[in-house]
Amino acid sequence: MRLNFQLVDLSDADPTESLLRWLRRQRLTGTKEGCGDGDCGACTVALVETSDDGKARFSAINACLMPMGAMVGREVVTVESLAIGEVLHPVQQAMVDHAGSQCGYCTPGFVMSLFCGYYAGDFDDHVIDGNLCRCTGYLPIRRAAKALAAEPRGADRFSALLDQHQAPETTSLGTFHNPDNIADALALKVAHHAAWIASGTDLGVALSRGQHIASVLIAIDRIPELQCLSIHDNHARIGAGVPLSRLERELVGVFPALDHLLPWFAARQIKNRASLGGNLGSASPIGDLLPWLLAQDATIEVRGPMGARELAVDGFFEGYRQTALQPDELIVAVRVPRVRGMQAGYKVAKRRGDDISIVAAVFVLVLDDDCRIAHVRLAYGGVAAVPIRAKAVEAWLLGRALDESVLQEAVARLRAEFTPLDDHRASAEYRRALVGNLFAQFVAEHKEAP
Ligand SMILES: Cc1cc2nc3c(=O)[nH]c(=O)nc-3n(C[C@H](O)[C@H](O)[C@H](O)COP(=O)(O)OP(=O)(O)OC[C@H]3O[C@@H](n4cnc5c(N)ncnc54)[C@H](O)[C@@H]3O)c2cc1C
Ligand code: FES
Ligand code: FES
Repeated sequence: MRLNFQLVDLSDADPTESLLRWLRRQRLTGTKEGCGDGDCGACTVALVETSDDGKARFSAINACLMPMGAMVGREVVTVESLAIGEVLHPVQQAMVDHAGSQCGYCTPGFVMSLFCGYYAGDFDDHVIDGNLCRCTGYLPIRRAAKALAAEPRGADRFSALLDQHQAPETTSLGTFHNPDNIADALALKVAHHAAWIASGTDLGVALSRGQHIASVLIAIDRIPELQCLSIHDNHARIGAGVPLSRLERELVGVFPALDHLLPWFAARQIKNRASLGGNLGSASPIGDLLPWLLAQDATIEVRGPMGARELAVDGFFEGYRQTALQPDELIVAVRVPRVRGMQAGYKVAKRRGDDISIVAAVFVLVLDDDCRIAHVRLAYGGVAAVPIRAKAVEAWLLGRALDESVLQEAVARLRAEFTPLDDHRASAEYRRALVGNLFAQFVAEHKEAP
């Protein structure tokens, strides 16, 4: 690993220890631990990543979710390397100039998020989404970001680092493997009692809490075949490992419901790593992209020791966090048909930008020339043990004109179709109301659309 311009030998590192804890043991204590769960951004560091066009860039990530086994062959910059002596980096100076810090605990995380925005020339509204501050309030920090956005970026040692970036050598750490092709990944999986780890935004939470996942971990984030993304007239093929921020950039306008959902799928640091394959692999009933895949009639390409096969997303979720995947199978890509017609995605959560959904819903609806429903998909997360379609209501709606009485009846039927849980996030009654109301909102927002 290269850390702050220096090569570091990781051969003695514990592969499941988080980068955050490891940094702090090296007395690099600028990177702070707030939550250890990916929620607060105090641990933000800049990972150097190379895009498809070969250009290196800084990507803000949560060090608390990054296991050391995933750091071999990587380059990372932490807050300690920004200032030179007493001379602050422009990002730090902007925080000072705009009074963006009080107690300062959260400040290094903000600085690193802004640092990544600075070199990407991107200070959109979401650049500090993943950073929480209890003291200052966000206005001074947003002012700092605004000032930085207006400031021309000169050539400095960090730009040179990106221009000259060469990944250090990768050697796997003991029980943590980093294969660079599918065949090797599958061979390792058969040989060991192992678990796949893609970006670790889900598994990293368990690792950060010291939970045992498996005796061997196989990281699949360096397999080029899992990083492919191609857009065709009638479908898109999304590699299982493509980070969600890349989907946000490259699929914009292709799938309207995805455009609605991705801004509310966690914060920048998570989206810079989290993958679609990981969302499917977690099979959480509140996985936000799963209703989208159900509504689009997506298919999953998997590969295992017995060969390749395709599975429909409808039927993939067999029970609470259980899927139709065989133990050694790997999700390689997802094929998502492009559907014409009305479509939208909704997420209801308490802290919408970085929180678990209470209910998520994706609707697709196509009317024929007589304004009767020719195709309909109503898919939900958070209302059952698995992400699920309201198939009985879909069947009832087919062939009907979507007038007010049909809408009211559909809403009533939707409320009756599921028996969601009561939990600390919301009551079953509230969830049941959302199931119907979100559909009514969808119709109100889209019925007049061409
Ligand atoms: C702070 C925070 C906020 C979050 N917000 C959201 C949110 O808003 N919405 C949401 O849906 N999720 C959210 N998550 C959960 C998580 O980020 C997503 O589920 C993400 O898509 C997981 O992807 P990953 O690559 O990090 O998966 P990993 O953690 O690497 O893996 C998750 C599971 O999938 C399996 N897996 C991964 N890739 C494959 C593959 N190719 N083939 C087979 N199995 C595979 C792994 O073995 C593991 O069981 C959040 C997580 C955190 C920490
Ligand atoms: S410590 Fe809170 S996001 Fe990492
Ligand atoms: S300055 Fe205190 S938490 Fe942000």
